[in-house]
Amino acid sequence: MTSPPAEAATRSLDAGDIEFGDGLEILLSTVFQSAEPGQTIDVATSSRATALELPGWARSTGHSAEQDWKETNQDGQRFIVRVRRGDVTPVLAPDLPARGDPMPLRLGTQFHTSDLISAAPERIPDSADPSYGLVPLGSIPEAGGPDYAWRLNRHDDLWAEDLTDLTERATSSQWDATSDIPWSEALDLPEEVEQAVAQVMTFIASNEYVALYVPAKFLPRVNAAFVDILMWLASHINDEARHVEVFTKRALIGGQRGYALASTQMSLHSLLEEDDFSSASLLLNVLGEGTFIDLLGFVSRNAPDAATAACARLAHRDEQRHVHFGISHVRRTQKLDPDSTSQLIGAVEARAAKLATLTGLSPVLLESLTILASGSARTAELRRGAAAVNELTKLMEVNRIRRLRAAGFDLETSHYLSELHTPNLM
Ligand SMILES: [Fe+2]
Ligand SMILES: [Fe+2]
Repeated sequence: MTSPPAEAATRSLDAGDIEFGDGLEILLSTVFQSAEPGQTIDVATSSRATALELPGWARSTGHSAEQDWKETNQDGQRFIVRVRRGDVTPVLAPDLPARGDPMPLRLGTQFHTSDLISAAPERIPDSADPSYGLVPLGSIPEAGGPDYAWRLNRHDDLWAEDLTDLTERATSSQWDATSDIPWSEALDLPEEVEQAVAQVMTFIASNEYVALYVPAKFLPRVNAAFVDILMWLASHINDEARHVEVFTKRALIGGQRGYALASTQMSLHSLLEEDDFSSASLLLNVLGEGTFIDLLGFVSRNAPDAATAACARLAHRDEQRHVHFGISHVRRTQKLDPDSTSQLIGAVEARAAKLATLTGLSPVLLESLTILASGSARTAELRRGAAAVNELTKLMEVNRIRRLRAAGFDLETSHYLSELHTPNLM
């Protein structure tokens, strides 16, 4: 940049009676940033104290006062200090680009997340530098920041169609596990029924932990350039934290306690060990949460009280988004890379091998589900409850195969993967 001739380019700034500490620094900074290096600006002030301080301010900010205030013109009550702009920039970055178009609003008021992503002045990259900083979408990074070391740097490895719409839906579908459940309805169940409900709720809560930990494990590996993925994972984590909360509350509200079964722990531990994002999505979102959609539907239809039904119904609504993501992501992954299919199948096989000792759903849980659906431990009702549980098992199998087909697997593979799926359901 060349310095303009000082005399020709001298500008004036009337600072009035504003003083240092009252906003004068900000006024000066704004005016000097808009000037060219070398340009002079006559700063006029009605305050003698301010005129005295101006040369010091100029030195400390990389500019220079042309003369002491005593030598400046005194124009009536005003003191004028001529300051030359230094060749300094407050930020180690290129100049900000010119102001662009405003972002689009729907119905004149709503700023949708998908519009943020599609209309931002920068596009989310297909692949991002692993050292990329915590740089918000569209912002200009200053040089000199630390190097990060993200592990997930390819957008396609993480994305799904409808991702931003799913995130938007998650935000608008939030509910409150403290006040949106009719908790008092859960207080008067017979002892054997309450015990069964507490056991089923404990089982579900255990499973919700893994649904919380899996996306939480991947989130800090995702490159900060992929804000759409971060927002989605955060919404998933938020949903699951609420599921842990609501099912723990329901398990304990009646004074009963349930077992956290070792078979469940084994199954969930093997899911948490999966380190590939797409394989984890198949295991958790498609197979695990998919199967749980059927379980939650069963609980909401057969619960002996309105509070339990509401817990299951509200969680079911959230799970539909998680399963939608998984099916969409796994289908796209296989489409983009046909070799990924064998890797995905391998992940299900490897997990099944770890769980070879699990031969079926825990008898403790089967019994509790049956009593929950019967609403009592009497013979006639138990028969009905047992039939409902049998129906549930068949429904889970049919729907699991349907979801695997939707996720891009052929019919034979879908049957094979469904059979390999953990008997623990998640
Ligand atoms: Fe959940
Ligand atoms: Fe979920």
